[in-house]
Amino acid sequence: MILAGDTVRIAKDAEELMRDAAEVFATEASDVAGVGGLFTVALAGGSTPHGLYTLLAGEPAFRARVPWTRIHFFWGDERHVPPHHPESNYRLAHETMLSRVGVPEDHIHRIRTELPDAAAAADAYEETLRELAAPRRPRPLFDLVLLGMGSDGHTASLFPGTAGLRSTTRLVVAHWVERLGSHRITLTVSALSSAVHVVFLVSGVDKAATLRDVLMAEAPTEALPASLIRPIRGGRLTWLVDQDAARLLEPPHLRGISP
Ligand code: 6PG
Repeated sequence: MILAGDTVRIAKDAEELMRDAAEVFATEASDVAGVGGLFTVALAGGSTPHGLYTLLAGEPAFRARVPWTRIHFFWGDERHVPPHHPESNYRLAHETMLSRVGVPEDHIHRIRTELPDAAAAADAYEETLRELAAPRRPRPLFDLVLLGMGSDGHTASLFPGTAGLRSTTRLVVAHWVERLGSHRITLTVSALSSAVHVVFLVSGVDKAATLRDVLMAEAPTEALPASLIRPIRGGRLTWLVDQDAARLLEPPHLRGISP
């Protein structure tokens, strides 16, 4: 679902999409930190953000603008694997970015999947986020939430039909994802919506039909979990997509939407 005031920016290709995302990150992090604040960001998992993290850490024009020591890093979700497992979302961000730019260790808040089970990891992260929330009130949890979207409309690890989709009391849940045959730990809709700015990164022709369905949805629907994410208190929602992902979008989807 898309509302007036939302932004849909269509990049010519995945590389330009990553540059658009890096520009948002660098600008907003320096704006907040520039006035002495601490910038909090929830990182996206999956493969799409790989290019973004690599660019932020590797391109001087971006790296030099990011106030790395004034950012606290969180994750929107995690696979139930050890932190240095090839599938780990923490590992992706740590290897491509965090290990290269001098972020203080106590500013990196990973989901502790080494705990006895996924539920314990979720409970521990719930505590972490509640500790984060207290001093930030009334500001939302995150200054920026980065999210991907699967071709089934999932985001973070909120998959269609999963138990955590409906939670209204938790910030973090662990649930079984049937289609993956594994547990996932994920921030809930309310936690991901507690953001000054939510930015979806969507690339590739395989996402085109779902992106059209999500943007065209008359109302948020659990069938397309990405459509449930709506920043609270007037926060901004931005879709950074490439032309392949946007190939089925038509002007009506974008009426009144800033590019
Ligand atoms: C994850 C992500 C997930 C991802 C989408 C898109 O842990 O996998 O949180 O929501 O963003 O599945 O994945 P790709 O970027 O690999 O297409």
